[in-house]
Amino acid sequence: MSGIESLPAGFLFGTSTAAYQIEGAVAEDGRGPSIWDTFTAQPGRIADGSSGAVACDHYHRWPADLELLRRLGAPGYRFSIAWPRVQPDGTGLNARGLDFYDRLVDGLLSAGLQPMATLYHWDLPQRLEDAGGWLRRDTALRFGEYASVVAARLGDRVTHWCPVNEPNVAILQGYAQTGLAPGRGLLFGALPAAHHLLLAHGLAVEALRRGSHGRIGTATNHFPVWPVTASEADRGAAAQLDLFWNRLFADPVLLGRYPHGLLADASPDDLALISQPLDFYGVNYYNPIAVRAPAPGSPLPFEYADITGHPVTGFGWPVVPAALTDLLTGLKARYPALPPLIVTENGCSYPAGLDDTARVDYLDAHLRAVAEAVGRGVDVRGYYCWSLLDNFEWADGYTQRFGLVEVDFETLERTPRRSFTWYAEQVRRHREAH
Ligand code: NOJ
Repeated sequence: MSGIESLPAGFLFGTSTAAYQIEGAVAEDGRGPSIWDTFTAQPGRIADGSSGAVACDHYHRWPADLELLRRLGAPGYRFSIAWPRVQPDGTGLNARGLDFYDRLVDGLLSAGLQPMATLYHWDLPQRLEDAGGWLRRDTALRFGEYASVVAARLGDRVTHWCPVNEPNVAILQGYAQTGLAPGRGLLFGALPAAHHLLLAHGLAVEALRRGSHGRIGTATNHFPVWPVTASEADRGAAAQLDLFWNRLFADPVLLGRYPHGLLADASPDDLALISQPLDFYGVNYYNPIAVRAPAPGSPLPFEYADITGHPVTGFGWPVVPAALTDLLTGLKARYPALPPLIVTENGCSYPAGLDDTARVDYLDAHLRAVAEAVGRGVDVRGYYCWSLLDNFEWADGYTQRFGLVEVDFETLERTPRRSFTWYAEQVRRHREAH
């Protein structure tokens, strides 16, 4: 059996997307503005000056996308619900916004697919950002209410929930640094926002447990951090990035405490909410990161370095499947009460073109890396490819294409790539092998 077929029976293959990256229709059916509408309108923020105003126009073309999912045959589909569609100002209910997801979930179920809904994939209602955003505790309370509203409508049908997508990326790049919305650049001043977003996760878990039947998890970005040399200074720098990127967000969820005295004033009640048991822990993995000790006077305790000796994706990200095995085995070693894992995102960008052999190679090697971790005793239950469609890649606009399906952003025509056919074949062979 190939590595992929050796993945256990019932292993859930899927694909992932996110609302702002594919939906478009930003002013339709009462949707309110989000921090991404604001951010993309600011000159210089997005590489190609674009926005998600149209994106893949999935809001109108979702039946065609559902047909693609049906053809693909991977039963898992992870999408996100746009908070500003459901609560345009971050409060109340805009039923027309929720209707869209109601139709989508019914469509997925009738196609035999399992809906995995993310409640927050970075599109905070602008009104809440104006009031302080994630720096404000009240935003977490608002998020808990939003989760209840969604659960009341979809809780009987959504099979998996991810309250918050990549809380670490949202805070470290949106609040500590400036690459993602709202682009605040507060450095260590962003720490309270980290706590509030984790609290939002906890409050949503509580609301979803009360009001839904689905399995509840996370989708946290993780990368192994490599020191460029074995020197004490470089290893120290790597430990610092590991602390802020991986542990600051995973430790409170999986251990019920913050690492290294960070956020020492967080209350035990908050930590209890944040560390409620989960049905799965979602991992988004793309590549490892290398760092060295910073130059004297640097505001950060590490400095990013290049990784050489590996192929790179269109983004220039190193392709290192073994780092995914290390990551999964490392999580099991570090967290004794680790719930079953699901790889909630993994994928790569390459230039436009239907014959994407490099993507096939990337996905094949990473699925084998997952199988390797399973062989070493890690309980991994699923793998979701990022992404079904080429889409709006945040600050990189439409310059980076991650899709199994190519999207022509002039005509919005969708064309499956070689990787789509390949992935469909792996899913089919896995099913037949079990
Ligand atoms: C992770 C994010 O969740 C997703 O939105 C993004 O497109 C991919 N990484 C690729 O950068």
